[in-house]
Amino acid sequence: MTNLKQIPATLIPGDGVGPEITAATLNVLDALGAPFVWDRQVAGAAGVAACGEPLPKACLDSIRGTRLALKGPLETPVGGGYRSVNVQLREEFKLYANLRPGKTIVPGGRYDNIDLVLVRENNEGLYMGYEHFIPIDGDPHAVGMSTGINTRQGCRRICRFAFDYAIRKGRKKVTAVHKANIMKALTGIFLETAREIYATEYKDKFIFDEIIVDACAMKLVMNPWQFDMLVTTNLFGDILSDEIAGLVGGLGMAPGANIGEHAAIFEAVHGSAPDIAGKGIANPTALLLAAAMMLDHVGCVDLGDRLRQGIDDTLNIDNVRTGDLGGTASTVEFSAALVKRIRQV
Ligand code: NAI
Repeated sequence: MTNLKQIPATLIPGDGVGPEITAATLNVLDALGAPFVWDRQVAGAAGVAACGEPLPKACLDSIRGTRLALKGPLETPVGGGYRSVNVQLREEFKLYANLRPGKTIVPGGRYDNIDLVLVRENNEGLYMGYEHFIPIDGDPHAVGMSTGINTRQGCRRICRFAFDYAIRKGRKKVTAVHKANIMKALTGIFLETAREIYATEYKDKFIFDEIIVDACAMKLVMNPWQFDMLVTTNLFGDILSDEIAGLVGGLGMAPGANIGEHAAIFEAVHGSAPDIAGKGIANPTALLLAAAMMLDHVGCVDLGDRLRQGIDDTLNIDNVRTGDLGGTASTVEFSAALVKRIRQV
């Protein structure tokens, strides 16, 4: 392990449960001998508290240098206040692909044997922030407006990312999720491009099909096994990936990677969980699985596999589980059990 080349990476513990699950994840990565050399930075509410801004320049500069980050959840004020730092980071580093796998680790839940991968376009659509209110008759928020933008280039890029991933990982089917019956331009361009890219560059390498987002949401609940990979636009991907997290035991089990050509940021799908922050009961598995994706990304697939195996064994052989999975372990107890497992392998 000691002969692994050291890899500089930015660490953003984040807000709410962020510092708790990050500390747990770092303990485990240390036990694993992961090669990361961390540059610790703050952002979100912690950035405002420490530096007066949600995305301090030092944090941006760090990621500009390392081009690799592990990030805890960052709080975003609802309604008003500063713009989501997550969205800003995805824009700043052109992290156009959001990769969100949902895989059953703990059997016996409502759904078993789920193995889905959702690829979400991360830079365009309704998340671009072209929004404003129109005041009428003294009501400053009489009308709310938002403009979504999807580009041909962006649609091509995300479809190629998803299709290449499908080939690399031997996936059988990719389903394009859209709402082109109603938003004929905004999501029509995505569907049109997905069909075109498949027909011209990927035909017969895997099965391609398409589905309208509302039907997809329903079918995911009725029979999720009919899907294999989903590729979709920004907002639909955000919503459906939480739904998929629900199929595999909740947000505590769902990792995500934000990937661009020149940088990548790994995180849990969940947010800062203010309702349980500070109680020491958050499930660190989602961030741990994100760390495993980060290890894969830098070429340390063997370490990523060991980490995934350790998580599986801790949950299923040792039966150490946090409250969201019906167990009684604290965050610290879970990570201690996982460290013990990893040291045994
Ligand atoms: P949330 O994901 O923080 O929480 C939703 C529910 O899931 C809560 O009941 C929470 O206790 C539970 N939960 C989440 N993570 C958990 C874990 N690791 N272990 C056990 N239970 C867990 O969503 P919410 O409450 O809508 O958002 C809170 C804040 O997080 C907001 O400011 C939001 O903007 C931000 N957020 C940040 C994200 C990011 O940084 N990538 C993603 C989603 C939300």
